[in-house]
Amino acid sequence: MEFDFDTPIDRAGTWASRWERYAGRDVIPLWVADTDFRAPPAVLEAFAARVTHGVFGYSAPPDALRTAIVERMQRLYRWAIEPSWIVFLPGVVPGLHLAARYLCAPDEHVLVPTPIYQHFKRAVQLAPREHDDIPLILDGGRWVFDEAALESALRPNSKLLFLCNPQNPGGTIFTRAELTRLAAFAERHDLVICSDEIHADLLMDEGKPHLPIASLAPEVSRRTVTLMSPNKTFNFPGAGVAFAIIEDPKLRVAFSADHHATLHDASVFGYIGALAAYRDGQDWLDAQLAYLRANRDLVEAMVADTPRLVMAHTEATYLAWIDASALGVEDPCAHFLAHGVALSPGAQFGSPPFVRLNFGTQRVRLVEALERMRRAAMGSDPCG
Ligand SMILES: Cc1ncc(COP(=O)(O)O)c(C=O)c1O
Repeated sequence: MEFDFDTPIDRAGTWASRWERYAGRDVIPLWVADTDFRAPPAVLEAFAARVTHGVFGYSAPPDALRTAIVERMQRLYRWAIEPSWIVFLPGVVPGLHLAARYLCAPDEHVLVPTPIYQHFKRAVQLAPREHDDIPLILDGGRWVFDEAALESALRPNSKLLFLCNPQNPGGTIFTRAELTRLAAFAERHDLVICSDEIHADLLMDEGKPHLPIASLAPEVSRRTVTLMSPNKTFNFPGAGVAFAIIEDPKLRVAFSADHHATLHDASVFGYIGALAAYRDGQDWLDAQLAYLRANRDLVEAMVADTPRLVMAHTEATYLAWIDASALGVEDPCAHFLAHGVALSPGAQFGSPPFVRLNFGTQRVRLVEALERMRRAAMGSDPCG
């Protein structure tokens, strides 16, 4: 089947966070991480069938979805999980907050490798829990863990290690060797790992597989909470569904302590979308990945061709992490916005001189945005 990722879709008036902020202005918004693509036909058909049915009452997570997730983990990662290990959530973000509050006591400490998606930090700040940021380092053009810095950030009360794999905003797919060393570090210091793997399907480099850290070995699985969701892969985050995979019953009970206190179930449309996407969305996903890979190549080519902009290769996610420090402007995001492109400020992730660009949009828009950015970068030439 042919899928159309090229025809621009007007999202005005749909309450889209990314588009509403700049409504009515000549600004191409490439900030919040959703895409401008319609969800797969299989998902749209499943939504439509439920709308036709017309009743949207309280809903229990379908067994069929648990089965689909178990089969998916086995097929993609040879990871044998039990249906009972799955805890459904309305989103991955609530899972990060649950982890900070319930997997770590008030007097315990959290390790947060940064830059990182802002809700990891929000989670430890709001819980609140003592934490340390451990900056990733560039090694061979990839953002990886600074293993020595992780060791030195440890405290006697360190309990939780936050992991974002694939990494947002760095775009890294961590290798088996890197994850094995990280898991051994967690084992040595008896840390619980909370691994956000929402970008697991958004692999831009063919031949570099995603590995859930919990799938490495049973002893790693027993100390890990893995957070996943079809929200981002199939672009229906507004429908709200995610899940945690937690083997250890004690961790699972602790993590679920808030259930129905402040946290609602996933939405019925989340369950419907997830089931349809996992059962029948693979062709669409393959086509989307091909499209996104070509977009990624365009972004990297523009950056390579523009003095004063630098980026590491994006192995995964549809997000480009661009170092704009050489522009010599105080606020790179404001600079690009003044030239008609809205990006996410690096400060949001812990690195102010950077900007993050979402290339999950129609190519014609992306090309225009990249031209504007190039002009913005050239115009900032400190030498004239
Ligand atoms: C690493 C990461 N985790 C979680 C989320 C959001 O998850 P959800 O919409 O399921 O709460 C995002 C969205 O950008 C993300 O990049």
